Amino acid sequence: MRFENMSSANINIAVKLVNKCFISKVDRNTAIFWYKEFATPDFKKRWPHLHYLTYQIVYDRNRAIGLTGIYSHKFKKERAWLGWFGVIPEERRKGFGSSALRKTVDAARNRGYREFKIWTDAGDKSAINFYKRNGFRKSRREKNVVYNEKLIFRYPKNAVFYSKILG
Ligand SMILES: CC(C)(COP(=O)(O)OP(=O)(O)OC[C@H]1O[C@@H](n2cnc3c(N)ncnc32)[C@H](O)[C@@H]1OP(=O)(O)O)[C@@H](O)C(=O)NCCC(=O)NCCS
Repeated sequence: MRFENMSSANINIAVKLVNKCFISKVDRNTAIFWYKEFATPDFKKRWPHLHYLTYQIVYDRNRAIGLTGIYSHKFKKERAWLGWFGVIPEERRKGFGSSALRKTVDAARNRGYREFKIWTDAGDKSAINFYKRNGFRKSRREKNVVYNEKLIFRYPKNAVFYSKILG
């Protein structure tokens, strides 16, 4: 398995993967919105609350099978968050998701993060089971993302949080 950094050169592959991985239209549109933003040259200026963001395409040999990413906020630099994460339906339950998550967590650890956090929808039992099976523990709900007194992101009411301390 290997990761390829997402850029304007491979964004079309990423968009196809999003459309395969996510059932919800809102999720699809939000992921594609962020990928397109990320590919703009002035991305950092447009989203000053972000300390770091990377999106990657996951390959099994030459086949694009999934997506992953890491981001962090300027107001909590020791914590990494999982970006859009998914495996295409025909490649699920083969261990690819766990391998990609492990590789993503390792990359965060190597960058010096002390904690790795995830949020998902409380109703998404398969994702919750997947995170638990990969050693994540239920964690406290985070406050909405506010930067320079501006509300950047409001977590949905039914969001649940899972976390792993990076040793
Ligand atoms: C969640 C997801 C990434 C899992 O990927 P995967 O490649 O199937 O994961 P793995 O094969 O490594 O699964 C590891 C374990 O997680 C659990 N798991 C994975 N999918 C599950 C499901 N649909 N239902 C219940 N448990 C599940 C199982 O315990 C599994 O082990 P097992 O197959 O030996 O029983 C994938 O189903 C997916 O892309 N879903 C849609 C997008 C999404 O939900 N993303 C994450 C939330 S943002």
